Amino acid sequence: MSLLGNLSGSSDTIGIDIGSHSIKVVQVSQARGGYLLTRAGSTPTPPDAVKQGVVDDRLAVAEAIRTLLRTLGITTSAAVAAVAGPTVVVRQVKLPAMPEQQLRKSIYWEARNYISFPVEDSLLEFQILGTSASEGTPQMDVMLVATPRNLVDSRVETLEQAGLDPVAVELEPFALMRGIIDLHAASIWIHETVALVELGATFTHISIISNGNFILSRSVNVAGSTFTDAIAHVLGLETAQAEEIKENEVRVVTDEFSRAMLSPVGQEASRALESPQEELVREIRRSFAFYDYQQGPGGSTQRAESVSRLILTGGSAKMGGLDTFLNAQLTLPVEVVDLFHAGAVHLPADADPAELRTQAPLMATAFGLALREPMLHRERGGYR
Ligand SMILES: Nc1ncnc2c1ncn2[C@@H]1O[C@H](COP(=O)(O)OP(=O)(O)OP(=O)(O)O)[C@@H](O)[C@H]1O
Ligand SMILES: [Mg+2]
Repeated sequence: MSLLGNLSGSSDTIGIDIGSHSIKVVQVSQARGGYLLTRAGSTPTPPDAVKQGVVDDRLAVAEAIRTLLRTLGITTSAAVAAVAGPTVVVRQVKLPAMPEQQLRKSIYWEARNYISFPVEDSLLEFQILGTSASEGTPQMDVMLVATPRNLVDSRVETLEQAGLDPVAVELEPFALMRGIIDLHAASIWIHETVALVELGATFTHISIISNGNFILSRSVNVAGSTFTDAIAHVLGLETAQAEEIKENEVRVVTDEFSRAMLSPVGQEASRALESPQEELVREIRRSFAFYDYQQGPGGSTQRAESVSRLILTGGSAKMGGLDTFLNAQLTLPVEVVDLFHAGAVHLPADADPAELRTQAPLMATAFGLALREPMLHRERGGYR
């Protein structure tokens, strides 16, 4: 499927989001006073090619990427990809105060306490957030990011197989934050505590950003496939049929009156969804509780208020009624992401804004990835 293609654009980097269900590509170019979305599209991931965040069948995925790029008319080779999942650790930790140079040398040692897989097999990054003192001992708050090496390697190798030049691999939640929060620096979101909830097929990533600072991210296993499996199980259907019903016949309902509006099969499916829906709410609440705990006495130096808004992204955010349901359960404003609302990104003259709005949740991560290089360039004063 191609949302935008065959338009004249410059040769900037492209963002590629390789999920277990679909591959998304976005290209953004520099434009006067902002950015121009030049191309965007997605294609189904070959069956079973991506498992638990790792690209298993690199050849098949590379071929799918090549075909998608050809369809979109993209000739750029520089690409930015992303990793995510329960094995990726993003945590604020307290360490004894030390100069950055020293931490760079000892980070593999320090990280041992916080990650559950061998540090030798992981890539580590950190950012010092601030310093504090606990019982007279100087300490520092550090954002630690640890990624199993094979998650990154499998993406780099896949992009290379596709004839691309991988310029960066970053975390999905960071890319989302760039595209949704950082890009709209003038928006109210930059002064709030916002939860970004990305509902994919295999994973849901729950991230909390407070006053423009990334605070935490958790990945949980209740996502689109959980919804599909529940429908397949309760209605006794094959996965493909259940997915068809999920995407076309069902809404997340909050009362029996709304359920009665659905087709008979939709009503049955909506009942099957109740258990995974509740599980999702529990996981979001757990993340909020973890955030509150972290921000409490003795927690982070970046004290902030409770979460005040939830933004839904990912393909499963297209599920009708999910925003209303979460709003009722969590008593928070909940909205499905609308990437292009604030005018910071210009759309080509022939783009269909309604179609782009429909596809925005699916494309949000790839969009954030595509913005990486142009935004870095602009920050360095490259263009205005
Ligand atoms: N209209 C819709 N209603 C409900 N669910 C939908 C709809 N459209 C797509 N989905 C679901 O969205 C999911 C795919 O979303 P997405 O492409 O973001 O996942 P992914 O990135 O491939 O997965 P992951 O990152 O978890 O590996 C699938 O489970 C699909 O069934
Ligand atoms: Mg995804």
